[in-house]
Amino acid sequence: STKAVILVGGPSRGTRFRPLSLDVPKPLFDVAGHPIIYHSLKAVAKVPGLREVILVGYYDETVFRDFIKDASKEFPHLRIQYLREYQALGTAGGLYHFRDAILKNKPERFFVLNSDVCCSFPLGEMLNLFEEKDAEAVILGTRVSNEAATNFGCIVSDAHTKRVLHYVEKPESHISNLINCGVYLFATETIFPSIRSVIKRRTTRPRLVSYPSSENLEPSFFAEDEDAEKPEVLRLEQDILSDLADSNRFFVHETKDFWRQIKTAGSAVPANALYLQQAFQAQSDELTPPSAVIVPPVYIHPTAQVDPSAKLGPNVSIGPRAVVGAGARLKESIILEDVEIKHDACVLYSIIGWGSRVGAWARVEGTPTPVGSHSTSIIKNGVKVQSITILGKECGVGDEVRVQNCICLPFKELKRDVTNEVIM
Ligand code: GDD
Repeated sequence: STKAVILVGGPSRGTRFRPLSLDVPKPLFDVAGHPIIYHSLKAVAKVPGLREVILVGYYDETVFRDFIKDASKEFPHLRIQYLREYQALGTAGGLYHFRDAILKNKPERFFVLNSDVCCSFPLGEMLNLFEEKDAEAVILGTRVSNEAATNFGCIVSDAHTKRVLHYVEKPESHISNLINCGVYLFATETIFPSIRSVIKRRTTRPRLVSYPSSENLEPSFFAEDEDAEKPEVLRLEQDILSDLADSNRFFVHETKDFWRQIKTAGSAVPANALYLQQAFQAQSDELTPPSAVIVPPVYIHPTAQVDPSAKLGPNVSIGPRAVVGAGARLKESIILEDVEIKHDACVLYSIIGWGSRVGAWARVEGTPTPVGSHSTSIIKNGVKVQSITILGKECGVGDEVRVQNCICLPFKELKRDVTNEVIM
């Protein structure tokens, strides 16, 4: 059988997602009407024979409780649980720490998904490749521009056999534009021994310091960064994947479908657009039917109130209990719960935080991020600015006020026009 592990990280990891992560853990932020991790879970739920999903992270125990309850109702064939690391153990440390839970019921293989990516998750195709090649590991890859590639894990592969020849995490110079999408399939039989041998090698290498650490009388390590300080912190990318490439049984499935990382708060806007477009192509009945005022795809929560003269879309999501007034124009934006958009306001390329109010004739706008840029900042008049405008929780924008390319922390009142600012 097959299982899935979703790496959800923890509170300190969400800092680039500010100001939105101040009010909700990033994996639970809504894009296209559902929490970010719902979209990965939905893909996992479609894998034939997959019955068990483990969320691994270091958020508080209660954080995912309601999400898991709701998801278990929607996907009754799945057993979903959250396992909490006592500290950030790294992308492989958590897997290793919870290996008994993963190995229970003896799955032959398991998926590992980074929670902060948005893609079509072609898990079935990865499984096929895995079977066909009798693989030890399959990684999902996608092509990005040469400039973007060095921000990701880079894969050198044999185009014909799809074998991974070489893997380098965030290389300093260009080696390949085929990058790691953060989605893997591992053979249980070999991945844990591989992790174990990395741990062994570490403990016998001179990185080991001979004096005991004060806390636990265990040997401690020299550290280049905070993470490496703890011997139990293991990074899948740096510590494991490059070794796997030497094994001959590590393959890459290159996806031609959409893929985007959700790191910064602004990147929720392109992710929202991509998932809405996917739902539209699948003719999902969750979306609002096209009309003179609805340019698809648009998602409106059933409890939201949208004036029939407001024009919405494309790529707009409206959250629970939001109110949109007459003549408003909304495009490429996420409107969260309890927001009020007054009549004739305009919201473009923006995220409007929970309970915020946008005044009549106000304009809240960002700038489109260039296709394929994988970044949410743009150069405007020679200066790097935020492409997406983001209002944190309970902000207010006055009537006729214009807000352009700004990030606004929670509870701010904007009474005058602002451009290219972080409002704190
Ligand atoms: N449970 C747990 N514990 N999860 C973690 C930890 C940890 O200690 N550290 C990170 N994660 C989760 C994050 O929440 C995220 O979903 C994923 O693991 C990867 O996060 P990062 O470690 O911050 O890596 P990255 O996003 O910069 O790069 C990774 O993803 C790229 C694709 O989005 C790498 O795998 C790259 O190679 C890859 O291209």
